[in-house]
Amino acid sequence: MTTVPLPSAAAKGTRRFPKGFLWGASTSAYQIEGATEEDGRGPDIWDTFTKAGKIQDGTNARVACDHYHRYKEDVAIMKAAGFNAYRFSIAWPRIIPAGTGAVNSKGLDFYDRLVDEILKAGIRPMGCLYHWDLPQPLEDKGGWQGREIVGPFADYARVVTKRLGDRVKDWMMLNEPNVVAIFGYGVGEHAPGLHLGEQGILRALHHQNLAQGSALRAIAAEHKGMTLGTVTNIQPSRPDSDSEKDRAAAIRWDAVWNRVTVDGLLRGAVPDVLAEKMAGMVKPGDMELAKYPIDLLGINYYSRCTMKHEEGHPFDAWWGDPKVDRYTFMGWPVQPDGLYDLLMEFKHLYGNPAVYIAENGAAYEDTVAPDGSVHDVERTRFIREHIEQVHRALTDGANIKGYLAWSLLDNFEWAFGLAKRFGIVRVDYETQKRTPKDSYKMLAEVIRNNAV
Ligand code: FCB
Repeated sequence: MTTVPLPSAAAKGTRRFPKGFLWGASTSAYQIEGATEEDGRGPDIWDTFTKAGKIQDGTNARVACDHYHRYKEDVAIMKAAGFNAYRFSIAWPRIIPAGTGAVNSKGLDFYDRLVDEILKAGIRPMGCLYHWDLPQPLEDKGGWQGREIVGPFADYARVVTKRLGDRVKDWMMLNEPNVVAIFGYGVGEHAPGLHLGEQGILRALHHQNLAQGSALRAIAAEHKGMTLGTVTNIQPSRPDSDSEKDRAAAIRWDAVWNRVTVDGLLRGAVPDVLAEKMAGMVKPGDMELAKYPIDLLGINYYSRCTMKHEEGHPFDAWWGDPKVDRYTFMGWPVQPDGLYDLLMEFKHLYGNPAVYIAENGAAYEDTVAPDGSVHDVERTRFIREHIEQVHRALTDGANIKGYLAWSLLDNFEWAFGLAKRFGIVRVDYETQKRTPKDSYKMLAEVIRNNAV
């Protein structure tokens, strides 16, 4: 058991957060919007992946939470919980359906309406430009494997912020470039489903770093007073055993999972252990482009990586046994203190940049009580314990600006489909009825007290 002892019940509600701390939840376009063939949206890589039968439970995202039509109700649910922030993503294939060229004004109109609704509710909209829904025509030209994608991404960033930048001041470039690279291009579990191994992973990471640097500059050149940043998934990497081989595997995995992205952005550097493998793809000037003095870094945290040496996998590293006594329905270990570790690491390694938790949450097998309510005891505990760790890191001087839960709604959990529920609000996919779960009520109470 690696989790820290639970605080006593008497301490509940006594840990206060700074004034103005951001509270809310995150979603992504593909996972909630539905309407994949409406108003001129083009096909993306997840549509293709789904049609190829790659989703474990056979579901798809054509309707999902029907948020495209029900966004007003969803914003009202956020308002009722007292959210002061909300991170959502813009669907690139709605805005520029072919990935480059013609802009689809109906796509922009949707986000216009959504943003106005969010602002009317007194919530700070935090827009994320890329949460995995790459227009298929761009993938057909090589997707994140080639540097040809850099220009189109910056153009797309320009188009979106030109339309929404008068009202949305927080812009996150990418969501989890490491997951895109490893699962999409390395081991084929996510769209576009390629098995390109180490070089494919590193190329996808590097080109996302470049696209991000270009988009940040494109936005900064045209707008003043924006809060610019990106969102990374950080999982502290620890060895499965004390053996030298496992320790080396954990260091390699840390470089791939955590450092290529963060060191590229914050330091303009390639991690030493990967320098040789990346030498062929890093051209002069690349790391200067990747580096950018962002205002705010979003961190998604779910668990640690416990890594062991195992040949046959990229970087000869694979997941070992985290030796914990609690797992979520995803099979992910519950390790709240890993969040504390990484927040302190940011303080010490990167000069204490402003960060916020952009995602944190858990899938569990919810049951609906006879009266229709959902008592999601495990998720409630999970979220509370992680908020407590955020508070602990704040107390120890980490520069944390907010906590957004993943996710507002049950939604389309990528390759797992609709079966894995992460919402603090239940979605009945037959009726589209929304039911706030106990975790939602707990979060609302934390927000009300600005304390846990
Ligand atoms: C993250 C993704 C998010 C969701 C959660 C569970 O990796 O950013 O879309 O799938 O995991």
